Amino acid sequence: MSLRFRLLIAVAVIAVVALIGAGIATYSEFGSYLNGQVDTTLQAADVPIETCLNQGGHLTVSLVEESVPGIFAEVRTPAGHVIASVPATDEDRQLDANLDRPALPARIPGLAGMRPSSRPAGPVSDACADTLGNEPPPQVTTTSGAAVSTPESPEASHLGEGTYFTTPATRPDEPAYRVRASLLANGDVLILGSPLTATGDTLSRLLLIELGVSGAALLLALALGVLLVGIGLRPLVEVEQTAELIMDGDLEARVPDRFRARTEMGRLTRVLNRMLGRISDEFQERDRTERALRRSESRMRQFLADASHELRTPIAAVSAYSELFSRGADSRPEDLTRILSGIQNETARMSRLVADLMLLTNLDEGWPLQHRPVELVALCADAVHAAEAVGSDWPVDLIATEPVEVSGDEARLRQVVDNLLSNVRSHTPAGTGCTLRLYRDATDAVIEVADHGPGLGPEGLERVFERFFREDTSRARASGGAGLGLAIVKAIVEAHGGSVVALATPGGGATFRIRLPAVPDAADAPDGPG
Ligand SMILES: Nc1ncnc2c1ncn2[C@@H]1O[C@H](COP(=O)(O)OP(=O)(O)OP(=O)(O)O)[C@@H](O)[C@H]1O
Ligand SMILES: [Mg+2]
Repeated sequence: MSLRFRLLIAVAVIAVVALIGAGIATYSEFGSYLNGQVDTTLQAADVPIETCLNQGGHLTVSLVEESVPGIFAEVRTPAGHVIASVPATDEDRQLDANLDRPALPARIPGLAGMRPSSRPAGPVSDACADTLGNEPPPQVTTTSGAAVSTPESPEASHLGEGTYFTTPATRPDEPAYRVRASLLANGDVLILGSPLTATGDTLSRLLLIELGVSGAALLLALALGVLLVGIGLRPLVEVEQTAELIMDGDLEARVPDRFRARTEMGRLTRVLNRMLGRISDEFQERDRTERALRRSESRMRQFLADASHELRTPIAAVSAYSELFSRGADSRPEDLTRILSGIQNETARMSRLVADLMLLTNLDEGWPLQHRPVELVALCADAVHAAEAVGSDWPVDLIATEPVEVSGDEARLRQVVDNLLSNVRSHTPAGTGCTLRLYRDATDAVIEVADHGPGLGPEGLERVFERFFREDTSRARASGGAGLGLAIVKAIVEAHGGSVVALATPGGGATFRIRLPAVPDAADAPDGPG
């Protein structure tokens, strides 16, 4: 069952219960009010009749008609024997049938303990006088036969004490009666009854009106309920639409935020949007991680392919030399020398390649580096001496005005400078000048190797630190490099928390600039020992 339907049923049940409650209350209150009106009429009729009967008059149609027309009246002995009875309707009176009478019980309720009315003094009314005839006023006796004394003053007499009750209709064409019973001065019971024909009609009409109005009100409540439930559920529809958008791939879709933060819908919207934001962030993060993983996987595959390719050349060369050897080159001393030196060169190249690959793999895995103070000017001076010893055709200028200290692994940092200087020898023509500059830049130690050789193209500047990248393959191959030197430079520098970039030297050539976090100079340190 849908939520909308359930809410509508709830609205209908509440409306029906409220309408039935209101209907019952109105009906019974109005019924009591009408009975009160009839009771007032009976009370008014009682006064002249009771007065007359207490003065010795008889119950006659004219006495009843004089008081209130159309009511039933009866006098009974305390034992219930009917002394006189006046029917309520003319038809009954003419027929002397007394069909139209209340269904009275044998014992009238509410009389026990009631005081009998007292016999009033004063003149007898005209209507009463007609009922007296020539008889003297009867001696008023109590039910026990004792004489009742006539009250001395009118104030002492009392009338109007009576008990009221309703008798039901005994036949469908007869009305119910509202009945008043009181005790006369002689102890007899005076019963007055007013048919409730008009009251019954009024109440039936009220019931019809209530049913009609309640039906209309129920329909109106349902129509309003449909409208309000529709408005109330709109935010849920929006949540559903947002969920559908997200399912279709729009991760940025959010529930429209149109409600105040204090309202339930406002809070729900905000919480949902926050949750969606978090899910979408995590999804994007996972996406990024997956893409990075895929990239690194493909780089790894490329790396392995390149590494095996690089190893294949020296292995092929060594096997070619051994082939020559087996074909009898060992008997020719000049060939033997060539073969041996060739095998030595190729194995040296292989072992360098394997050492480079090992180093890169170790750095990738977060190989722990030493962290000791390293003075870079001294380190660079050693590297320059070594470079000039290996290739004196590539003069190197070392420019450093102050000691620059970093914390790191001296051997690896030396390898960085060696690789850069060896690249100058490998990738620039003999006689190319080169400058190695060392300085501090704020908190960084900067090592800059700038040459005036052919330099790098735009693609080279961008990709030169990739593994196995060689800009001019034929020439690089001739120089014997595998394309790992700068990748190693980058890995070592980054393991020291630094960075390296390749730039074009103004006026032509290539510049490699390395930044490493410098150890603060003792003189610069604010709290330095002084
Ligand atoms: N100073 C330079 N001038 C011009 N090109 C350079 C310079 N240094 C590097 N390159 C280019 O960058 C490429 C990558 O250099 P890298 O040092 O990584 O490899 P390699 O020198 O070729 O081989 P390896 O260093 O592994 O022996 C070189 O092949 C070369 O094309
Ligand atoms: Mg190199």
